[in-house]
Amino acid sequence: MSKSIAIDGPAGAGKSTIAKKVAKSLGFIYVDTGAMYRAMALYMIKMGVDASDADKISATCTSADITIKHENGEQVVYLNGENVNGLIRTEEVGNMASASSVNGDVRRKLVELQQKMAKTTDVVMDGRDIGTVVLPDANLKVYLTASSRVRAERRYKELIAKGTECNIDDIEKDIIDRDYRDMHRENSPLKQAEDAVLLDSSDMTIDEVAEKILNLYQSKNS
Ligand code: DC
Repeated sequence: MSKSIAIDGPAGAGKSTIAKKVAKSLGFIYVDTGAMYRAMALYMIKMGVDASDADKISATCTSADITIKHENGEQVVYLNGENVNGLIRTEEVGNMASASSVNGDVRRKLVELQQKMAKTTDVVMDGRDIGTVVLPDANLKVYLTASSRVRAERRYKELIAKGTECNIDDIEKDIIDRDYRDMHRENSPLKQAEDAVLLDSSDMTIDEVAEKILNLYQSKNS
């Protein structure tokens, strides 16, 4: 039986950085499910689909072929054969992903793909519904969060480092809006699974959180 760790939580809590570290330590594959929703959102943008047009999103998602490969230890997302890693990290795509991921057809398609990957491979998978829907039998479930201000500060620093001009209050507002949409949607809302361990990373370093998760995993599975 393959092993799995599910890490859920709101945007900017540090899930991907931490999940990558944990995966590396354990020799598991890191699966970033947000990237799949982002690739789907990019497809919607390319096809000129309006974020509020649920029927069009349902109809359009059937022609999006999303596949995940691991190349040199990095996850690469392909959309209809094209490597889209460099195109999915924009605010525009993130906002479309938050809107289009409420769609049941989009979710069914991507959840199936995620479950297939976890069946044959040891994974650390992060997202919003991994512990609740995708991997209900994960060997460890973590709900990772941080205050909206701390998350906005982290995002602000990332953008400034890339030379992007931005305003921290706008970023925080965006984060709060996205959290609200992710937590209040009808399909698979973001919530802590009953058997998930809650970790607040506001006052913890990345290494401290990763260490904590490794310890939890070892104590649960030894
Ligand atoms: O983690 P992220 O910011 O890359 O995710 C982009 C969007 O995709 C986010 O607003 C919510 C959605 N998402 C989801 O609904 N379910 C997941 N398992 C992962 C992401």
